[in-house]
Amino acid sequence: MESRKSFLKKSLALSAFAPLLFQSGKGNSTVNFAEKDNDKFWQQIREQFTLSPEIINLNNGAVSPQPLAVQQAHIENYQYSNLAPSYFMWQKLDEQREPLRNKVADFCGVSTEEIAFNRNTTEGLSTIIFGLNLKAGDEVVVSKHDYPFALNAWQQRALRNGIKLNWVALNLPEENENSIIEKYVSAITPQTKIIHLTHVLNWTGQIIPVRKIADAAKQKGCEVLVDGAHSFAHINFKISDLNCDYFAASFHKWLCAPFGTGFMFVKKEKIENLFPLLSSYESLKDNIRKFETLGTRSFPAEMAVSAALDFHQAIGNERKENRLRELKNYWVEAAKNIQGLKLLTSLKNELSCGMATFEIQNKKAEDIVAFLLNESKIHTSAVLWEGLNAVRIAPSIYTNFSELDLLVDTLKRLK
Ligand SMILES: Cc1ncc(COP(=O)(O)O)c(C=O)c1O
Repeated sequence: MESRKSFLKKSLALSAFAPLLFQSGKGNSTVNFAEKDNDKFWQQIREQFTLSPEIINLNNGAVSPQPLAVQQAHIENYQYSNLAPSYFMWQKLDEQREPLRNKVADFCGVSTEEIAFNRNTTEGLSTIIFGLNLKAGDEVVVSKHDYPFALNAWQQRALRNGIKLNWVALNLPEENENSIIEKYVSAITPQTKIIHLTHVLNWTGQIIPVRKIADAAKQKGCEVLVDGAHSFAHINFKISDLNCDYFAASFHKWLCAPFGTGFMFVKKEKIENLFPLLSSYESLKDNIRKFETLGTRSFPAEMAVSAALDFHQAIGNERKENRLRELKNYWVEAAKNIQGLKLLTSLKNELSCGMATFEIQNKKAEDIVAFLLNESKIHTSAVLWEGLNAVRIAPSIYTNFSELDLLVDTLKRLK
């Protein structure tokens, strides 16, 4: 019988990639994770990514590429599963599920019994939003700047169940933490059952002070749901720091794990009262695993999350967060005097991270995005939402300063 070890030995020999963990995309260099020289260190990290010579990707907020070690783990899992999927994928590879659950729970500072794997944040948020036992007249606090598909789900519940949405109006960039807290807390009424918080806004990278809002919401008897799509593995925190009841995130964003991998956290005592989106066994009613009866999906991708977590932890979340913020501050500083350019992201560390968004007076965001691509092959994204006509810049850990110099030089040439 093919053991996973012997299979891996063979497949590594056949693989397009060399077998060393964290091997370079460009040669044989490996990462010295103890490297103190920042330039050398981040160059080594860059070499772990298989970057396109055709574009400079500054849209890493959408979905991240994976470093070689993660691609390698994914490919190995895939080939292994293909030996006989119902045996090697559903039985043998799946033996890694509980160890992975332990590892993710440990990283998040919560119990193993509170982590469920799924495909992405959208799925996690939908499971929670549709699974809550809410009735007509119950209220939910949301903001116009929450993720559209989460808002759509809440709106569907309003239509179907007669719940009421209380909208918080953010004015981006929000520069004052207390004012954000005040906006959320004042939207809570005696009927409010849950407050929906997007930890880092995808539109501008604004950080919402989740813990402080959650503490106040809890005092008023509300539950707290956190959309962590952009905060997870980007800013340095543990779910246990947030005082929330529910949390959803994707692994394929800032963790750089395979596409279509995500998870959610449900506080142990809340599991029983939350319906799974796809029905499960009655015997699992108070078990976090009831959220994983999702039908056939890619276990090779899911199980390669472990390699992404290893890579992330070898860098260190704090070092990664600092680097991403350093890259943001670098281009923002160089671009701030461009005529008509207005930043829509706070520069305060507690209110922003690695992503930032700008608008340029009298310029359409789509035209700026097209200009950057046509002139310098720089790929960015337009932010067109709630009156914003802006461009988001989302570097990654593989981004270097010369790419950001090119960004700013190109913006200076915009007529
Ligand atoms: C704030 C926020 N929440 C949720 C999502 C959904 O993520 P996914 O497409 O991985 O489900 C996104 C995607 O960009 C997002 O920005």
